[in-house]
Amino acid sequence: MLTVEEAFRKFKSRLELNQREQDNASARQNEVRDFLVTKFSIDRSFLTGSYKRHTKTKPLKDIDIFFQLAEAERHYRDEAPDKVIDAFHDALVEKYGASAVRKQTRSVNVDFGVVVDAEDNTDYRVVSVDVVPAFADGDDYEIPDRGLGKWIRTNPETHAAKATAAHQAYSSEWKGLVRMVKYWNNHAGQGDKPIKPSFLIEVMALDCLYGGWGGRFDYEIQSLFETLADRIHDTWPDPAGLGPPISGGMDNTQRDRARRLLKDAAAQATRAIDQARRGQNGEALKAWRQLFGPKFPLS
Ligand SMILES: Nc1ncnc2c1ncn2[C@@H]1O[C@H](COP(=O)(O)OP(=O)(O)OP(=O)(O)O)[C@@H](O)[C@H]1O
Ligand SMILES: [Mg+2]
Repeated sequence: MLTVEEAFRKFKSRLELNQREQDNASARQNEVRDFLVTKFSIDRSFLTGSYKRHTKTKPLKDIDIFFQLAEAERHYRDEAPDKVIDAFHDALVEKYGASAVRKQTRSVNVDFGVVVDAEDNTDYRVVSVDVVPAFADGDDYEIPDRGLGKWIRTNPETHAAKATAAHQAYSSEWKGLVRMVKYWNNHAGQGDKPIKPSFLIEVMALDCLYGGWGGRFDYEIQSLFETLADRIHDTWPDPAGLGPPISGGMDNTQRDRARRLLKDAAAQATRAIDQARRGQNGEALKAWRQLFGPKFPLS
């Protein structure tokens, strides 16, 4: 029978990007770019966000693609963030149809109509992408934020460098743990994610995983849930020091709820650890699967 550690290893690898998924992401990027260049003057586009850093969980949804606008489009930068989002939205509707295209706070989401099965598999296809209009600003970028009604600064390279450093300092287990907690976040809370945005999980993990990898997934995850619960009410600034706080996406009621659900998760992890210690391996595996969702294996 599968041990709990083996199950965690398998779970971790199921949340890793494989070549077929990367090929599909790249094909979608090219498809969206080939269309958008007929509508806007675009200097370049690139896959970014958690996808690029390997901290995105499965199924692959909302992969970020930055579209760096050329100087000819600079007038958008002088207008309210709504304007460029509206323009991208209207353009993408022409290609993908109104029901597949949705305005978000900082991007336009394009859904490819991929079916996610009961095991969270998509036949290696990307479900949706977030199309982000961006202007280069030195080494940084400016992107529209309709919620704040202004353009915000960001730097994907700084976020990537911090994630890489944390991963290396944690025996190359940090990104796997982040993907697992993000996977939990997608399944806990009955369709209303406990932690929003899920980027906050990664930002908190930069601080909340410290002291080095202890050698066991079950202990690491249990204590991570505990620490996330204890620090969910803190203010979490942009790790690059450019954009608005990452913790600004929730109010105190939502933070109270996130804390409660994180505490529940920590308690459930403790129970699963106890079951394994008592030799009830099958029960322990079921408890972990119930905690995380269908990609946690029972065999
Ligand atoms: N408040 C912010 N200030 C500056 N940059 C931000 C901020 N929020 C997000 N970003 C950058 O934009 C990227 C995309 O944001 P998003 O909310 O999609 O997070 P993500 O890391 O891609 O996580 P997810 O797995 O949920 O997609 C982030 O990875 C980060 O680099
Ligand atoms: Mg994203």
